[in-house]
Amino acid sequence: MAQAKSAIVTGGASGIGKACVEGLAAQGWAITIADRNEEGEAIAAAIRDAGGQAQFVTVDVSEEASVRAMVEAATGAYGQLHGAINCAGIAGCSKPIHEIAVEEWDRVHRINLRGMFFCLKYQIAAMWPYSEGSVIAVSSAAAVKGLPWSSDYCGSKAGVDGMVRGAAMDCAEQNIRVNAILPGATVTPLAMNSSNANPALAKTRTRPMGRMADPSEIASAAIWLLSDGATFTTGISMPVDGGMVIA
Ligand SMILES: NC(=O)c1ccc[n+]([C@@H]2O[C@H](COP(=O)([O-])OP(=O)(O)OC[C@H]3O[C@@H](n4cnc5c(N)ncnc54)[C@H](O)[C@@H]3O)[C@@H](O)[C@H]2O)c1
Repeated sequence: MAQAKSAIVTGGASGIGKACVEGLAAQGWAITIADRNEEGEAIAAAIRDAGGQAQFVTVDVSEEASVRAMVEAATGAYGQLHGAINCAGIAGCSKPIHEIAVEEWDRVHRINLRGMFFCLKYQIAAMWPYSEGSVIAVSSAAAVKGLPWSSDYCGSKAGVDGMVRGAAMDCAEQNIRVNAILPGATVTPLAMNSSNANPALAKTRTRPMGRMADPSEIASAAIWLLSDGATFTTGISMPVDGGMVIA
């Protein structure tokens, strides 16, 4: 039997990341579920019970040593790392920009942007010797659409998109693809909490299709970007948003 391909999913214990884990497990990937939320352990155990390959690793993506250990755990357990879907992220503080404290600004950027840098850095380094791999950064439609009370979050996600384009150039000749996905409003704990915390969002047209996404609808796009169907796609920021950015 051919050895399973290996992928890391950060933020894999909840929401979009959990849906990515479920989709990859159904395709037989060996998965490292990495999250600071220990509920990922039960998800990994359920995959193993069903005959698949999965491990849970506790990580804080904003800490460099923690991310390095996450990647080492993946390569230690499953060998060559073929893919990564980086979902770990948090919402902003839901305030207009002139009321945001620097600590609030730093908190979002520490996880959403600095954390994404560590993930890309160590995942790409692990893929480099094999001249093969696909890395996905889960950004947001907020990277390109103006949203009220969200400048901290929008800024962190726009930074992710720029970093992805630069990293894609660094990796193109090495046959390692780096792409961003820009989800629109998706039914997860993060979105539910932030729409409660940010009544200003209701003023913006964010749901042209009249509904939010199911996390599986974002995961299927991420899994396509990992697949051999996407071998000529790199450096893109792909909205998966029900029309949110064009509305
Ligand atoms: N839900 C939406 O509407 C939506 C829209 C656009 C983009 N996104 C992005 O999608 C990604 C996934 O979000 P979600 O909606 O599934 O939210 P979620 O809260 O369900 O999942 C996020 C996961 O990231 C983990 N996490 C947070 N900080 C971490 C850290 N420092 N280290 C390790 N793990 C950490 C959490 O524990 C959680 O399990 C996020 O980057 C978010 O910004 C979500």
